[in-house]
Amino acid sequence: MQKPPRPQRVLIASSHPLFAQGLRSLLLARYQRQVEIVGVATNLEEALVALERQQPDLIIVDYDDQVFNREEFLARFVESARKLRVVLISLQNPEEAIVYDRRTLAAAQIEHWLEEWPVAEPSRTAPTPGAVEISGRRAMKHLVIAGILVILVTALLIAGLERVRLLPEAAALQAVPIDWMFGLEFKVIAFLFALIVVFMVYSILVFRRKPGDTSDARHIEGNPKLEVTWTLIPLITVLAFSFLGARTLAETQAVGDKVIEVNVTGAQWAWRFEYPDWGIVTNELRLPVNTQALLHLSSLDVIHSFWVPEFRVKQDALPGDERFVRDLRITPTKIGQYKVRCAEMCGLQHAFMEAAVIVMSQADFDAWVATESGLSADPVARGQKWYQTYACYTCHTTDGSVKVGPSFKGLYGSTVKFTDGTSTTADEAYLFESIRNPAAKIVEGFPPAMPPNIAEKMSDDQVRDVIEFIKSLK
Ligand code: CUA
Repeated sequence: MQKPPRPQRVLIASSHPLFAQGLRSLLLARYQRQVEIVGVATNLEEALVALERQQPDLIIVDYDDQVFNREEFLARFVESARKLRVVLISLQNPEEAIVYDRRTLAAAQIEHWLEEWPVAEPSRTAPTPGAVEISGRRAMKHLVIAGILVILVTALLIAGLERVRLLPEAAALQAVPIDWMFGLEFKVIAFLFALIVVFMVYSILVFRRKPGDTSDARHIEGNPKLEVTWTLIPLITVLAFSFLGARTLAETQAVGDKVIEVNVTGAQWAWRFEYPDWGIVTNELRLPVNTQALLHLSSLDVIHSFWVPEFRVKQDALPGDERFVRDLRITPTKIGQYKVRCAEMCGLQHAFMEAAVIVMSQADFDAWVATESGLSADPVARGQKWYQTYACYTCHTTDGSVKVGPSFKGLYGSTVKFTDGTSTTADEAYLFESIRNPAAKIVEGFPPAMPPNIAEKMSDDQVRDVIEFIKSLK
């Protein structure tokens, strides 16, 4: 053992003169020139002043002395954060002393500790019997093992979570981003769970107290790098998820190319569906596949909530005027039967507030609409109806006679001459244009008499039906 280059400076803190005197003679007798007693402090203030002025290497505190509140003393000492050793010695319990890093040492260990003290620096790394010290290499080994366990547990959890079917098969376009988001969240949750539980269980098992070990653990005062890390990583994670969540929400609200509107009304305890385009009212929701349905949700009484699990998206139906109408966009992607559930506690029969949701092919849906709205499934018959409804007959006959405009009889496929000298074959595109935009081409021999907005109230489907009707008039 190396000899110290200068005597170790010792400060004694006790209000009992006998304690100080006894300790002084004991130390001098045992260590002779290696030790210099720089002072005796009789209270906390004196001790702190002496700490400042004398710069002692070791301070020995009377553990039993009420004047020295050791909690306060240690708190103020730690504040000064000097490389200093403190020993708290109790005469009432001479078997034990407490050193400032909070280990409790037996009297025999104190002697050993004091022997090593002149060369040990800083005190925390001094190899001390009874105290568990972990070298850098061993710490790295523990970290690698725990890290591998975290990866393994994460993988197992993700595999397990993927086997559990939390939601039924997705059947709408809007379900895609929602399922993606759910998947990502489950993966991150699995990792965080593994990170916390693996480190906790590993520490409990590997670093548990060995039999006969009565020492205290190392006392650690903060770790700024670690604290910044565990603040920044969750902060960035949460911000990233809020961004992804907002993007996913926007994706579920994207407007489709073709939209059919349905007014959905909830009431205790049933659903009603109204198709304003066709004047249909029903208690089962029928939708064509791959066409976006824009649902306008409202309630007649309390708050209900429209939810078809296969479609994922969910929206409340609120009572009140049109300001309280909530929209929900659903683009079904799979033909089939589903069920709408009420997802808001709304009274006694809440659990039974269900209605059938039927996703059909476009053709089946058109046929259903035709039947429900009293229309034929035959486009020619429907076209004839529109011919009457929109009063096309006022100007266009079906028997070849001429009124204000050309007769529909034999029109389809014939060659039509225009006032500007050009001509064309009357095909579907030409007929469609002439109904939608009558002034585009004026047929020779007729006045430009058709009002430009005549077909404003007609849907494209109705216009196509009328064309089918014209085609049938050979
Ligand atoms: Cu309606 Cu619950």
